[in-house]
Amino acid sequence: MRRKIVAGNWKMNTTVAEGVDLAKSLVAKIKEVPSDVNLIIAPPFTHLVSVAQVISGSKIALSAQNCADEIKGAYTGEVSVSMLKSAGCAYTILGHSERREYYGETSSKLVKKIKLALNEGVMPIFCVGEKLEERNAGKHFVIIGAQLSEVLFELTPEEMAHVVIAYEPVWAIGTGVTATSEQAQEIHAFIRKEIAGRFGDSIANDTSILYGGSCKPSNAKELFACKDIDGGLIGGAALKADDFIAIAQSY
Ligand code: 13P
Repeated sequence: MRRKIVAGNWKMNTTVAEGVDLAKSLVAKIKEVPSDVNLIIAPPFTHLVSVAQVISGSKIALSAQNCADEIKGAYTGEVSVSMLKSAGCAYTILGHSERREYYGETSSKLVKKIKLALNEGVMPIFCVGEKLEERNAGKHFVIIGAQLSEVLFELTPEEMAHVVIAYEPVWAIGTGVTATSEQAQEIHAFIRKEIAGRFGDSIANDTSILYGGSCKPSNAKELFACKDIDGGLIGGAALKADDFIAIAQSY
């Protein structure tokens, strides 16, 4: 079912103690968030177990920021989906542009990761988005269409029904320059149309599509008011409890 979601991607920020404090602040303020808005936080791997204890019993859900593309075994430094599930994760972000750019995350690896996550009942938050030069060259629809077809079109309809999509234009991430609500809505409508073309209207209409990229309390309301924007994937502003809660209240 299509849901309103505000997810915080903490990236590689905070110590465990700082992360626990941030989670405690969010739990203390959660009653200020409308009940139909689903809050998700994605701390670093090292924080997951401690943060899971803090948010237990609240309506905040836990996400990882990545997972391994193998089930288990001799993969030094990797963290499997079953480990994430046992740590309390209901979600994992996959295909973030920072992982594609700095860690060579390819579409074929992402297909494996998404299927492994879904197999364990962990919902992927799958990220797509174009770079500035791609937008300037008018290639944004082609790039995003390819990111969708190379990964999500490999899924069965049953699998696709459990995927959340995040549109994060790379030029808006951490830059303070957000996409206008028109730019974001245009891409979100395109993504939904592509999903409808492959999986049908019912799955497309039920898919939550989040916007990410310099989303903050001052622009969230306008973005979330768009027909095809079902919430946000928040970076920098998710590190401040007041800002994150204010964004979630923008609905
Ligand atoms: P910022 O909100 O800091 O631009 O980051 C967005 C993001 O990359 C979330 O995954």
